[in-house]
Amino acid sequence: MQENNGLSGNLPALRETIEKELGALQNVKELYEFKNVYLEGKKSKISELMKEMRNLAPEERADYGKSVNALKEWALERFAEMEKKLRERELLQRYEREKIDITIPAQPIRTGNLHPVTLVRNQMIDIFTGMGFEIYEGSEIETDYYNFTALNTPQDHPARDMQDTFYVSPEFLLRTQTSAGQIHVMEKKRPPIKILSPGKVFRSDDDATHSPMFSQMEGLVVDRGITLSDLKGMLDVLVQKVYGEGTTTRLRPSYFPFTEPSVEVDCSCFACGGKGCSLCKGTGWIEVLGAGVVNKRVLENCGIDSEEYSGFAFGIGLERTAMLKYGINNIKLLFQSDLRVLRQLNG
Ligand code: DAH
Repeated sequence: MQENNGLSGNLPALRETIEKELGALQNVKELYEFKNVYLEGKKSKISELMKEMRNLAPEERADYGKSVNALKEWALERFAEMEKKLRERELLQRYEREKIDITIPAQPIRTGNLHPVTLVRNQMIDIFTGMGFEIYEGSEIETDYYNFTALNTPQDHPARDMQDTFYVSPEFLLRTQTSAGQIHVMEKKRPPIKILSPGKVFRSDDDATHSPMFSQMEGLVVDRGITLSDLKGMLDVLVQKVYGEGTTTRLRPSYFPFTEPSVEVDCSCFACGGKGCSLCKGTGWIEVLGAGVVNKRVLENCGIDSEEYSGFAFGIGLERTAMLKYGINNIKLLFQSDLRVLRQLNG
């Protein structure tokens, strides 16, 4: 007669099944399902075996219970071993899947670059602040008084025709020149004055070298004994830094209502060194800015004693400077934000 109604005989078979199934498991998820079926829960195979106990004669129960427990212990141990093995395997698979080949050349990341006008602007701010200039940023909407009248350009003055103006109202306009900032500064500050005023200006003007909106940089120095030669010395430093060592300047007589005398400043052609080329149209010189000795009337308009003080002023077009420096022949290229152009310019 078989012991325990033959129940103990089931145990080796179950052990064999467990061993076989364990060996076939592919991952931890399957292992846990397996654990559920065989070991855990009220309906697991081992629990079912335990329940059988009540069908046994009392004297058989102890042995049977021990055998089932031994099977359970064994299964738990095997389960733990298997879990370790499967976890290791899964980790290796994951390493394989997520492996990064650090020898593969990286995808180049394109970094942005500053706009040529910003580069020129920053460079000039650097140069002038290095010479002790303070930055004054005026406003883009001005009154007729600051933009023209105080700059010695009253209503009926012919020089007003030099700049086609956008009027916002009879009194207010979009400033046509950063020179308007000179007046604000001189009204508020007493000499010594040394300011640089960068900003946008507006004129009804539109062709390959003119845009209705462009940028200027105004410089103003007022103190005792300031002369045109101070201006010349400073301009020489400026053009050398912007266009390269060996660049020099020359002054040509010109006319601006707010300066007397007024000059047009040329620099020696940095493309041909002054021999004459297409950039300088064969002259060896390139016009770079307007300047002059501050007109006494402008000083007086701001309450500065023109007998005691004198000054010089200059105004530089930033787009024009960028065009010269980077060899751009159409101002529109600076406003179109065409990445192909901008990338080349910063190459
Ligand atoms: N404001 C002038 C213009 O826009 C440029 C200029 C010329 C500014 C001479 C000055 C100057 O300060 O002295 O054409």
